[in-house]
Amino acid sequence: MHRGVQLAVVAVTVAWVGLYAQQPAPPANPLEDWTPDMLHSIEVLPKDITPDALMKLMKDWNAALNVDCVFCHKGQVGKPWSTYDFTDVGKKRHEVARLMVKSTAGLNETFKDLGEADEPVKVTCASCHRRSRHPEITPPAAAPKPEK
Ligand code: HEC
Ligand code: HEC
Repeated sequence: MHRGVQLAVVAVTVAWVGLYAQQPAPPANPLEDWTPDMLHSIEVLPKDITPDALMKLMKDWNAALNVDCVFCHKGQVGKPWSTYDFTDVGKKRHEVARLMVKSTAGLNETFKDLGEADEPVKVTCASCHRRSRHPEITPPAAAPKPEK
């Protein structure tokens, strides 16, 4: 590639990345602006969880594992969530997610005396998953400055 062109590509990329970093979160996708009227098959989450709170949690799980709703639920990507069958519990990952909820609750129970009263220890899906469906088993390559 001609050097001038190369530089231009770099400049555009840098500008785009910079711009992107400064953008506020994109407006919510209208396809995704949906909340169920009622919940049918809640087994491991608190039975009195509201549909709003459940939807917030589901979006947190998407972020924690860097997956889409179809990772655990039956539905078609690009179609509105209202067309998904969230009561179908047939996917293996749905079952694994329920196991994960129980084990995360178990860890919080096990660790409950480690924290301070005003700062309880809290384990979440993101504690392990860090935006990946496969949690790392070794530390990241670049060691951060050790804490004193
Ligand atoms: C990591 C797996 C996973 C992901 C990702 C996920 N869910 Fe769920 N979802 C579950 C599990 C497990 C339950 C059942 C919880 C229980 O049994 O207490 C559930 C329950 C639900 C329910 C309630 C169904 C009912 O009526 O009982 C809805 C609605 C739902 N999810 C929507 C979503 C949406 C929308 C997304 C994406 C934003 C999403 N889920 C992402 C695993 C997942
Ligand atoms: C203590 C660490 C830990 C926590 C906390 C944790 N997970 Fe996991 N999770 C794992 C490990 C380890 C695996 C197996 C990963 C692999 O296959 O590489 C896994 C696998 C999964 C899978 C299967 C992924 C696949 O590729 O099939 C799902 C779904 C999942 N976790 C959901 C959750 C959810 C939802 C939460 C929070 C409620 C959660 N996990 C909390 C460690 C954790």
